[in-house]
Amino acid sequence: MIPKRYTITSALPYANGPLHIGHIAGAYLPADLYVRYLRMRGRDVVYICGSDEHGAAITLRAKKEGVTPQSIIDTYHKQIKDAFEEFGISFDIYHRTSEPLHHKTSQGFFKVLHEKGEFEEKTIEQYYDEEYNQFLADRYITGECPVCHYESAYGDQCENCGTSLSPTELINPISTLSGKAPILKSTTHWYLPLDKYQPWLEEWLLEGKKGVWKNNVYGQCSSWLKEGLKPRSMTRDLDWGVDVPLEDAEGKKLYVWMDAPIGYISATKQWAEDNDKDWEQYWKEQENPEENSRLIHFIGKDNIVFHCIIFPSILRAHGDYILPENVPANEFLNLEGDKMSTSRNYAVWLHEYLEDFPGKQDVLRYALCSIMPENKDADFTWKDFQARNNNELAAILGNFVNRVVVLTNKYFEGMVPELGKPPASAIAAYQQFQGHVGKMEEALENFRFRDAQAEFMNMARVGNKYLTDEEPWKKWKTDPDAVKPILWSCLEMIAAIGTAAKIFLPNTSQKIFDLLQIDGSELDWENLAGKREKLLVPPGHTIKTGKGLPVLFEQIPDEVIEIQLEKLKNAGKTTEVNLEPLKDEISFDDFQKMDIRIGTILEAEKVKKTKKLLKFKVDTGLDVRTIVSGVAEHFEPEDMIGKQVTVLANLAPRKIRGVESQGMILFAEDPDGKLHRLNPEDEIQPGSVVN
Ligand code: 2FM
Ligand code: ZN
Repeated sequence: MIPKRYTITSALPYANGPLHIGHIAGAYLPADLYVRYLRMRGRDVVYICGSDEHGAAITLRAKKEGVTPQSIIDTYHKQIKDAFEEFGISFDIYHRTSEPLHHKTSQGFFKVLHEKGEFEEKTIEQYYDEEYNQFLADRYITGECPVCHYESAYGDQCENCGTSLSPTELINPISTLSGKAPILKSTTHWYLPLDKYQPWLEEWLLEGKKGVWKNNVYGQCSSWLKEGLKPRSMTRDLDWGVDVPLEDAEGKKLYVWMDAPIGYISATKQWAEDNDKDWEQYWKEQENPEENSRLIHFIGKDNIVFHCIIFPSILRAHGDYILPENVPANEFLNLEGDKMSTSRNYAVWLHEYLEDFPGKQDVLRYALCSIMPENKDADFTWKDFQARNNNELAAILGNFVNRVVVLTNKYFEGMVPELGKPPASAIAAYQQFQGHVGKMEEALENFRFRDAQAEFMNMARVGNKYLTDEEPWKKWKTDPDAVKPILWSCLEMIAAIGTAAKIFLPNTSQKIFDLLQIDGSELDWENLAGKREKLLVPPGHTIKTGKGLPVLFEQIPDEVIEIQLEKLKNAGKTTEVNLEPLKDEISFDDFQKMDIRIGTILEAEKVKKTKKLLKFKVDTGLDVRTIVSGVAEHFEPEDMIGKQVTVLANLAPRKIRGVESQGMILFAEDPDGKLHRLNPEDEIQPGSVVN
């Protein structure tokens, strides 16, 4: 039988800054766990990643640092690649989208779609920054969201209400390059008519993936489809990126979200070339569909639409390509209750962790997997990290292994004792142990890595408890023969744990095999599941002996954790803060036109079927009115009742999601996007004028 084939990808990180633990927990650790599991099962796997080196993420960073985009990608590609390697993410290849092979591959894709007539060529009026001589798309332009009136929506999306936008929909647009209002200028682009794919997506995704894909992923896709898809331009007017491969397209580049996912294919081609493989087996439909590779994208939630809707449409438009079988996207990871932020330097950076905790890659893997944001946002705290190490890795797994190794040395000079007739208690413990192996398998097959790791630790728990209950140190004095099967069963369990640790704790797995003095490289799932005749540690074999046997996990003391917490407290003090540029000057008369008052919130509730909107009843002193604000992610409605706020009272009423909003409540937004209420120092008469 041909082993099942898998094409596994992790989102290509932008080479514009270092990796932090949020990235790792989102798209890399889960993929690495899955891939290590598949390899252990003998499946034919290729695990693909690389740097995403185009798009505004790179060019804006270059502008901020005053260097070229090439120097940005060279610096961060290396830093990211090295950090992944040292951390132990087991990519088969870590490629880069600046490679000529990638330019050729993505241009080839574009050409095929163009020749098949899949694009709509349109000449449109687009915003243009006269100072920088550049058209403004995506993150190059911000303005007020036409839907929720959030002030800093981007040209491609409002991050407040999630609406997908085009720059011309923004109210009062501003160039992020010059900070000035842009002009309109005409330009030609090639659009992928996503609306045309809508019926197919409804069938393939909405019907085909229901109950198969995770709820958080499926939910986001179905709301995109419910809104109705619109054509999306696959080209940009930029000077950094992949050239559009058409004669009449000077100065045009591919949209970064067209080229980046094709980066998975270019990387596979490079890997295949280096390893004498056939890349098409991992990407193309095979004659016998049973032999199609299973394509699985591991990503963070902000990438869902691109991997579930746009890239599949591109693959489908091209033809012959397989489509993603699953996209197990994760939600976000917070840090000590706060959003991680590059501009504030508020994050646990992977390269710094590796410096501060040398040799402790597995501890971070374990801690991150324990809290992985599989279904909702999760929070990393240093105290939890410490507790996972001290109370689980050291106290359960490390303690079990250490006691068994020490006792085997003490009683049998390191020689694995004869099994004899296993007592009932040993059989019972082993059955329990195998119960956890079965649950671990089920969880791994279904992308539930938190559960899978919990079952892994349960295996060690069973062993640890069995050893404690059997008290071989007491039996040694009265019935030494009874000690033999106890220690033998424990050693066999440890070898199985070492095998499972290849997935969760690869460095620890090596240490375990070293303690047992066995070659673990060949041990696989069948060994772990006790399905092979051969014993893992046969009687008569000698494990590691001598003084100073290594311990698997040391306790992490409070002082070490304090240092990390202190580091976070200082975060942001030294780095530059990203503030909004100053808007164009206005006259005193312009200002006088605004009627700003203090109001008191009487009622607050969520607007049904929306994530971001709250509906308030506000006493403005002049009247009691309804105001809708896109702040539901920042405030609980019940906390707002009775609070005073600042209200723009003479703003023309407008309908937001069917509710008429009569005015605007003003909030201050800090550089991390967190909103703060503006209220007078002491409670004052509603209707008091702000001027
Ligand atoms: O969001 C990001 O960081 C993107 N660079 C992910 C790209 S994934 C893929 F499509 F290449
Ligand atoms: Zn919005």
